[in-house]
Amino acid sequence: PVTVYENAHIASLRVAARITNLIKRKQDRGEKAVLGLATGATPVQVYEELVRRHKEEGLSFSNVITFNLDEYYPMDPSSRQSYVTFMNENLFDHIDIKRENIHIPDGTLPKEEIAAYCIAYENMIEALGGLDLQILGIGRTGHIGFNEPGSAPNSGTRLVTLDDLTRRDASRDFGGKENVPTKAITMGIGTIFKAREIILMAWNRKKASIIKKAVEGEISGEVPATYLQLSENTEFVLDEDAAAELT
Ligand code: F6R
Repeated sequence: PVTVYENAHIASLRVAARITNLIKRKQDRGEKAVLGLATGATPVQVYEELVRRHKEEGLSFSNVITFNLDEYYPMDPSSRQSYVTFMNENLFDHIDIKRENIHIPDGTLPKEEIAAYCIAYENMIEALGGLDLQILGIGRTGHIGFNEPGSAPNSGTRLVTLDDLTRRDASRDFGGKENVPTKAITMGIGTIFKAREIILMAWNRKKASIIKKAVEGEISGEVPATYLQLSENTEFVLDEDAAAELT
């Protein structure tokens, strides 16, 4: 299903409310909530609202376990552009999540250790009973996570090569495209698909044409997000600008 909200702020409040309900439902049952998280501009207001709920309403993340979708490779976690830094600044430093419950792909591994690391990442998710909810943004290439055009629907966590457009879109953060890593470690389409609920968010006019393709286009690896059309557990949460080209 597709839900269109007046603006990104209102939509983000709705998504944060859903995450809150999931965390509380699990708390009531004495269970852990396993969340798949994204970085980038799109989820920032969701994280802001979760931080507000923690500070002002006592929402606790003590039963929350998180797995981030991706990290650049190579990437030093202490660097400004790392997704570790992003998650700390936008969410983790401001809530009561246990550090050992946070998982972000490791951008410092030697190349020959990556394959085994990626299998272990998948296994950790599975051992916890799978992702309860996966949050996604979408790149202008149609990527989810860093599953660029050509990604297989059953792909798992792995090292990938970033699309040129993705590196161009990241160039501002890195002070030039030449400084953007050419690779990343990302959960696969198959990993994402196993989540019990998936929410793909998109805001702004610049996402309108890729959202049209993702939601209404032919299902194909050329636009990896189109695979989500096959998932009954996926909701596309859009603002009016991102939804502008939908029929
Ligand atoms: C980030 C991620 C990417 C972004 C996408 C959109 O962890 O996996 O797929 O969600 O590139 O980025 P923004 O939100 O910055 O437009």
